[in-house]
Amino acid sequence: MRFVPTRGNIAGPVLGLEASCDETAAAVLAPDGTVLAEAVRSQLAEHTPFGGVVPEIAARAHLAHLPALAARVLAQAGVGPAELGGIAATSGPGLIGGLIIGATFGKGMALAHDLPFVAVNHLEGHALTARLPGLVEGGVAFPYLLLLLSGGHCQCVAVEGLGRYRRLGSTLDDAVGEAFDKSAKLMGLPWPGGPALEKLARAGDPKRFPLPRPMLGRPGCDFSFSGLKTAVAQSIPKLHTEQDRADLAAAFQYVVAAVLADRAKNALGMMEGATAMVIAGGVAANTAVRVALAGVAERHDLPLVAPPIRLCTDNAVMIAWAGIERLRAGLTDPLDHAPRPRWPLAELSA
Ligand code: KG4
Ligand code: ZN
Repeated sequence: MRFVPTRGNIAGPVLGLEASCDETAAAVLAPDGTVLAEAVRSQLAEHTPFGGVVPEIAARAHLAHLPALAARVLAQAGVGPAELGGIAATSGPGLIGGLIIGATFGKGMALAHDLPFVAVNHLEGHALTARLPGLVEGGVAFPYLLLLLSGGHCQCVAVEGLGRYRRLGSTLDDAVGEAFDKSAKLMGLPWPGGPALEKLARAGDPKRFPLPRPMLGRPGCDFSFSGLKTAVAQSIPKLHTEQDRADLAAAFQYVVAAVLADRAKNALGMMEGATAMVIAGGVAANTAVRVALAGVAERHDLPLVAPPIRLCTDNAVMIAWAGIERLRAGLTDPLDHAPRPRWPLAELSA
């Protein structure tokens, strides 16, 4: 069995597979990182009636759609499975049902076609996206600061090299996307709440409702959002008009952006020689958040690297790219690699 490719030599395009949460995704990248084909199937319709992701429904939907999605991207790329240079599948962290489906599907293909397999850590996928060729001229060099701002994760990470990640801070309670979703729900907005809240906030006055700014001014770069959510809940009885709702949404977003900027500033102070500040995760789509973080980056004379939204949210391009970075370094995983629902970045190695 050909498990270990020649160092630096990838025999053909790499298929990436992602099924760790509520997006089923597949992508084919050329060995140099050029995206040949990509597809994402969101499970929004399946989960919306429940107001959040239902793990069992997610797993069944991945099972129903992943094989066709993988076949579609291979056909679009004009690549037969036997011509691939490797398979990279998200193997954690995430919901165990989806992880088993994505990773087992990938391992099955690797076994059938005698291809190298890479068990990709989903967070490493987000972390390395900024290095995808063509995104930033000249590429982003190590080390850089990654702000991972999604529905499930909220962390400041020093990305020091492939497989070398130092978590500088993380949330003590809710992830920032979760805070958006929960606050939006309190305001009567549909799930997922982030985009809906941002839209509502456009017409609002961010200064009308004074909300707490959890962790602002404290040392370190941990986050906490549960107190903010409680303050939003306590403001709900004061909402009578559409303008009131817009004002509260704007206040919430304003505070979150201010807190993220404060934490990012401290995170930069906790690492040396950062070449860039990189943002990832669904909340990186938020304009107020982007503007606040761009200000911090500018004050530190660093570029803010914000990948296009389709690469900030869950996708398989980032999984295939992490696979390519690992294959280039001669790193593969055995076919008995077990998916890990919990898999902190700090436990990775290169
Ligand atoms: O990265 P992502 O697609 O999925 C994971 O959580 O892994 O992030 C989804 C999160 C949700 O909480 C959603 O409400 C939030 O990102 N989000 C936003 C915006 N778009 C998505 N939050 C604030 N403003 C947005 N425009
Ligand atoms: Zn993600």
